[in-house]
Amino acid sequence: MSDAFENVKRLIAEIAAATPQSKDELEQFRIQYLGSKNVIKPLFGEIRNVPNEQKKEYGQLVNEAKESAERKFAELQETLEAASSDAGADLLDLTRPGEPLELGSRHPIATTLNRIVSIFQRMGFTVAEGPDIEDDWHNFTAMNTPEDHPARDMQDTFYLSGSTQLLLRTHTSPVQARVMTSQQPPIRIIAPGRVYRNETISARSHAQFHQVEGLYVDEGVSFADMKQTLMYFAQEMFGTPKIRLRPSYFPFTEPSAEMDVWIGMDNEKNYRLSKGTGWLEILGCGMVDPSVLTMCGIDPEKYSGFAFGMGIERQALRLYDIPDIRLFFENDVRFLKQFRSVI
Ligand code: DAH
Repeated sequence: MSDAFENVKRLIAEIAAATPQSKDELEQFRIQYLGSKNVIKPLFGEIRNVPNEQKKEYGQLVNEAKESAERKFAELQETLEAASSDAGADLLDLTRPGEPLELGSRHPIATTLNRIVSIFQRMGFTVAEGPDIEDDWHNFTAMNTPEDHPARDMQDTFYLSGSTQLLLRTHTSPVQARVMTSQQPPIRIIAPGRVYRNETISARSHAQFHQVEGLYVDEGVSFADMKQTLMYFAQEMFGTPKIRLRPSYFPFTEPSAEMDVWIGMDNEKNYRLSKGTGWLEILGCGMVDPSVLTMCGIDPEKYSGFAFGMGIERQALRLYDIPDIRLFFENDVRFLKQFRSVI
C-alpha cells in the first residue's frame, strides 16, 4: 500500500522541480497536471486500494499534490508574464528611428590654432609645450626681462597667491627657454597655448587669450629667413603675402618688429578690426637676443635665431568674420553651433 503513497510523493516532487521557461512549456505543464486528462486524477481513484485507516491521510496527500500543481502554475504564469513585459516585447517598436545624437563642434579658436600649427608643420616646425603655471625665471628672466620691467608689474601678471615666483604665464615665450635649455640647435618649434594678463575685459582684449610662439635657431639664421617664413605664413593663412614689418621693441629680440597683414577696408568689420588702416597686427618677432641664447646655454657666437609670438583671437576674428572677442569665451551654443562644418 505504501506504493500508492510513494507515487503521490514522487509526483509532488516532480511538480516542485518543474521549470517551464516559455509560455508553451507552461501550457504543457498545465495539460499534464491540471488538464482534463491530468496525471493526478487517477491517483484519486487509487484510494480504493488504500486501507481504511490510511484513506484520510492518502486523500489529503493527493489533494496536496493537486493544490501544489495549481499554486506552481499560478506562480509560473506570473513570473513569465512579468518577464515578457519587462522586455517590453509588446511595447517596443524596433523599427522606429533612433534619437539623433547631437554632435558638438570645434571651437573657432581651436580650428584657428590647428590651421596655424599645420602651416608651420609643413615648413618643418614641430610642436612644443610648456605649463600654464610658469615660474618667474622662464617667463621673465630667461626672456631678458629685467627686474624693474613694467611687464613684471603685479597689475599685468597674475601671481599665484602668496608667491612671487609662480605665475600664470603672460606669453608663450617661456616655452622658448624650456626648449633651448633642454636641446641644442637646430631648433625649429612652435608652441601654441593659453596666456593670461591682468587686463580689463573689452571687445578687443580679455584676461585670458591664446598665442602661438615660434622659434628657429641654427647656424646662420637671418632676418631674411624670418621674413620669408612669415610671408609664407600670411599667404597660407590669409591668402595674401602682403605684410608689413614695423620696427618695435621686445626685451628678448634684437632687432624686433611687429607684423601686420593686409586685410583691406572693404567692409565694416575689416575697417573696425584694423582700426581704419586696413592692416591687422598679428604678431611680434625678431632675432633672438644673444643674451637669451647665452642664458639658455646656447653659444651665440655659433648660432643665431629668430622668434615670433602671435595672437590667435584676432586672427580668428578675421578668419570667421566675428565681431567681438568676448564671443570666444561665453560658450553660447548658438554661437558655437555656427562652426559645425569647420574642421
Ligand atoms: N611675447 C610677446 C608678447 O606676448 C610676443 C613676441 C614678440 C614673441 C616677439 C616673440 C617675439 O617670440 O620674438 O607680446
